[in-house]
Amino acid sequence: MRWENHPFSRLTQATTPDPENHTKGTAMTTDFDQLIDRSGTGSNKWSTYRGGSHAGPITPIGPDLKGDGPIPMWVADMDFASPPPVLDALRARIDHGILGYTHATDSYFDAVTGWFKKRHGWEVPADWISTTPGVVPALHFAVKTWCQPGDKVLVQRPVYYPFFRSITNGGCEIVSNTLIEEAGVYTMDFDDLERKAADPKVKLAILCSPHNPIGRVWTADELRRFGEICNRHQVIVIADEIHGDLIMPGQRFQPYGQLGAAFADNAMICTAPSKTFNLAGMHLSNMVISNPELKQAYDGYMTTTGVAGGLNPLALVACEAAYRDGEPWLADVLAYIHGNFQTLSDTLATHLPMLKPTALQGTYLAWVDFRGLGLDQPKLEKMTQLDARVLLDEGHVFGPEGFGFERFNLACPRPVLALALSRLQDAIGRL
Ligand SMILES: Cc1ncc(COP(=O)(O)O)c(C=O)c1O
Repeated sequence: MRWENHPFSRLTQATTPDPENHTKGTAMTTDFDQLIDRSGTGSNKWSTYRGGSHAGPITPIGPDLKGDGPIPMWVADMDFASPPPVLDALRARIDHGILGYTHATDSYFDAVTGWFKKRHGWEVPADWISTTPGVVPALHFAVKTWCQPGDKVLVQRPVYYPFFRSITNGGCEIVSNTLIEEAGVYTMDFDDLERKAADPKVKLAILCSPHNPIGRVWTADELRRFGEICNRHQVIVIADEIHGDLIMPGQRFQPYGQLGAAFADNAMICTAPSKTFNLAGMHLSNMVISNPELKQAYDGYMTTTGVAGGLNPLALVACEAAYRDGEPWLADVLAYIHGNFQTLSDTLATHLPMLKPTALQGTYLAWVDFRGLGLDQPKLEKMTQLDARVLLDEGHVFGPEGFGFERFNLACPRPVLALALSRLQDAIGRL
């Protein structure tokens, strides 16, 4: 069915971003409404499903949105092509023909540090950066670097679930400084944090900023209070800022490392172009560690893993081009995702008022409260995955606080979102 004819298209046309409004003088370069067929590319999102119970081989919808195959809206990558300057740079690099051993160049570090400065006003000397093949590997390395088996690591559930494995993999115990939820608004529990951080066994605190899955962009004040407590108890902060460039209108992202030296010097800040520019498969991220002792310890551990030193030449080129020339595309994609969130909110308010979306301040992941349906977990999963055939991340995978919630990945063409919402409406209607 063509998008203009889709029953939900009128609902969403009003929120389709006007390129004139959000990118001064830059024409929109990517048609985000178009669904690109990812079959045969080894895409995790489109060929395996691990976000809920009904795992198994999937034959999802085709690019024409025909067929009743499942719609994958779970793992956090975008169904959009990366920025055109990135694709051009990759083509040029391939044309060079030689793909031998490669290291991060000065020009790469200029692009990365230039982005931090231009985008966030955050000054980072290149020698504070350690390149790492992904943020999740960096979390595993951090636990191995700064903890002994039997130590404890703080997280703030509900939270990105691979944090848990990085802790237990190092023989450590997960301690949750659980977020407080009141009428759909999440805040940090500082009294609980103070108590838990005081335990001498707690060595690290993993901060998710912006917070996946609840979509909060923490304020400078919240981050300062968090950091002061961790500093007081000698708990090193691992600030996962992978979603730090994905900020919705009206919000301001505060890099943890920019709060001041007292905060930065007790932290490792995890950054990456992977969510921002849809380059997750490139496996290249940048850890910022300003404290030389912490950096030496982290780099030292990295050398024992056998992955330190070399970079994939295509990843290097893609990440440099993204940080150098990807900003206009990012403005477009953020406006589009914001439009998708408005579509989700408007559609739920009109057709499914018992489902409550949490305000999206950052990330492209919407956290929706399904508890109003009164379904237990097996029935909820059956309804979404088997009846509606929409593959979401089940809320409880982010911790028990997530029972009854679902996480939607909104980085998809709006017609796909509309189709998923109409399927959910039908399936809920049949309950
Ligand atoms: C908070 C957070 N950290 C890390 C990652 C993944 O990082 P990487 O692919 O660099 O290992 C994700 C992906 O969704 C995420 O949401």
